[in-house]
Amino acid sequence: MRFTTIYLSLALAMLLSQPFEATASNLVCFYDSRGFEREGLAQFTLADMELAMQFCTHVIYGYAGLDAKTLELQVLNQPLDLQKRHFASVTALKQKFPYIKVLLSVGGDRDLENEEKYIKLLEAGRQNQNRFIESALETVRRFDFDGLDLAFQLPRNKPRKVHSDAGMAWKSFKKFFTGDFIVDEEADTHREQFTDLVRDLSHAIKQYDLLLSLTVLPNVNSSWYYDAPSIINFLDIVNLGTFDFLTPTRNPEEADYTAPLYEVLTQNRLGHYNVNYQMEHWLLQRVPLNKLNIGIASYGRAWKLTKDSGVEGTPVVSATDGPAPAGVQTKTPGLLNWAEICQLLPNPGNANAKGNAAPVRRVGDPTKRYGNYAFRAADENGDYGLWISYEDPDTAASKAQYVRAKNLGGVALFDLTLDDFRGQCTGDRFPMLRAIKYRLL
Ligand SMILES: *[C@@H]1O[C@H](CO)[C@@H](O)[C@H](O)[C@H]1NC(C)=O
Repeated sequence: MRFTTIYLSLALAMLLSQPFEATASNLVCFYDSRGFEREGLAQFTLADMELAMQFCTHVIYGYAGLDAKTLELQVLNQPLDLQKRHFASVTALKQKFPYIKVLLSVGGDRDLENEEKYIKLLEAGRQNQNRFIESALETVRRFDFDGLDLAFQLPRNKPRKVHSDAGMAWKSFKKFFTGDFIVDEEADTHREQFTDLVRDLSHAIKQYDLLLSLTVLPNVNSSWYYDAPSIINFLDIVNLGTFDFLTPTRNPEEADYTAPLYEVLTQNRLGHYNVNYQMEHWLLQRVPLNKLNIGIASYGRAWKLTKDSGVEGTPVVSATDGPAPAGVQTKTPGLLNWAEICQLLPNPGNANAKGNAAPVRRVGDPTKRYGNYAFRAADENGDYGLWISYEDPDTAASKAQYVRAKNLGGVALFDLTLDDFRGQCTGDRFPMLRAIKYRLL
């Protein structure tokens, strides 16, 4: 009798603990520490971080960089990261969430001086790379991070050129000019060098039981730089930057879905600019599914519409004029966070608003394949035109659903500080993070 009871409770304990571990998906929460330094409503605090952490399996602190001369890991924001002890404060939160892994990321498009240094590091040879490895390990260990994330700023796909003022004849030739073309003659060599670096780094990092993660930044072409079968065993997780396929800065003259789940087959779009293509590129190389996380942006991208963009709003929208003016909270041209977008969507408060505050028209996507957009046509003077491609909690949940259906590792959210962490939209704090979490459970 007693044995049966013990046996039963043991079995129950195993049932409760084991499958949970085995099936729980990753929710990798990127944390861009710039959010900590924003002002007003956009300012993200450690208390916000603490709230977010109950949903995350990993937090990736962004960003460290490379010293262009020595190629060692470089702390980019010393006043914050070191003097104000922000590195240490963030990793200290692990005491409350002991199962969370906090990693330090290198690159992430925040290390903007001499970007060619990332290629230089690949070409630098083993001895110089050892200096990078040692310096990275030193920083990671000193501040109690659980590992390192490589978000290297390697050369990007070329955005396609658009000549919107050209006539029909030009348009029929357009497809010959719009594809990507070679931006790195040495890509094959660089891919091999990256593999070597990852192998050496992994060996060094494993001695301390730390994690190594790879983040593929948007528009860094995986086929050029990452030999998936050769590197995957050295990596604990891979985060695919499957968003910002188009941006108002890279593609000032045309607006389109920035992070569609599937290829939009109509019109002349590039086949690799969607989540599913990027994921399949890795899957086809037989990497373990549970290491792959798809990236979801918590922000939208906003273009300025001109009179020539028309009043329809249907993407691809032509004759756009680059990034739309910055939002009042995030203060970044061409980018709006969910709280800012939410305030522009039709609501009782903005029904009669004019100019830049006038409501935008929301166009949802019942197919759940491409994503939302919202827009406001330019007025007769050519002012106030706006076109936004954005994620909301529902579309983010659809992507998490995709992750579940394909049995992938999980989701990487970019980033916590651009989610509606104050709950300005509906009162729900971190609506994007929650929507993803509930769908992954
Ligand atoms: C890399 O770019 C080429 C075009 O240059 C494209 O055909 C290929 O699909 C891209 N690979 C990925 C993984 O995006």
